Amino acid sequence: MYRIREVDGFDDDFGDVIADLHRLTFFGSAPVPELDVGHWWLAYHDGLAVGFGGLVPSAHVRNAGYFCRVGVLKRHSGNALQLRLMRCMEARARSNGWQCIVSDTTDNIISANNFIRAGYRLYKPEYPWGWANTLYWRKPIRLEGRRFRDPVSCRGDD
Ligand SMILES: CC(C)(COP(=O)(O)OP(=O)(O)OC[C@H]1O[C@@H](n2cnc3c(N)ncnc32)[C@H](O)[C@@H]1OP(=O)(O)O)[C@@H](O)C(=O)NCCC(=O)NCCS
Repeated sequence: MYRIREVDGFDDDFGDVIADLHRLTFFGSAPVPELDVGHWWLAYHDGLAVGFGGLVPSAHVRNAGYFCRVGVLKRHSGNALQLRLMRCMEARARSNGWQCIVSDTTDNIISANNFIRAGYRLYKPEYPWGWANTLYWRKPIRLEGRRFRDPVSCRGDD
């Protein structure tokens, strides 16, 4: 049984756990992000942290969250933990009043398929921030009981 919990990335203990999971899932291919910014979640199995995810304010899109990192230990992969972490991020983005979540994947079919499962659409930012082969994803956040808030403003880059 898996449980997802939002944690304080600023807290040293949680920060250490996230940094360890980052090392065990990215193997040095990406730097550990700043954990004192944004929102962070841990996925637990039998009380042990087995996955993490982070959502920070987008530096590129106004009033949007940027799904910046996710990692799941290999022996726990295949349990839709990325998808479950993404659902938590959407709820947080909604309560923050953000109009959308943006993200990107580069050569990552497993993660890209999870963006499709979660209802994200591919888009082309005006000022792409990744590599030539990076895919950019975007999902408008539906506010409770209302239609999408001005989805057009979600398209503009800073
Ligand atoms: C991307 C990632 C978080 C997805 O983990 P997940 O939520 O457990 O993946 P899913 O449940 O969607 O798994 C889908 C399928 O891919 C397989 N899979 C997932 N991660 C895998 C991995 N690292 N290696 C091999 N196969 C993997 C699953 O076993 C599953 O196969 P199945 O359909 O035959 O059961 C995870 O692969 C990971 O941590 N990768 C390394 C870090 C990374 O690339 N992060 C994303 C970029 S920020």
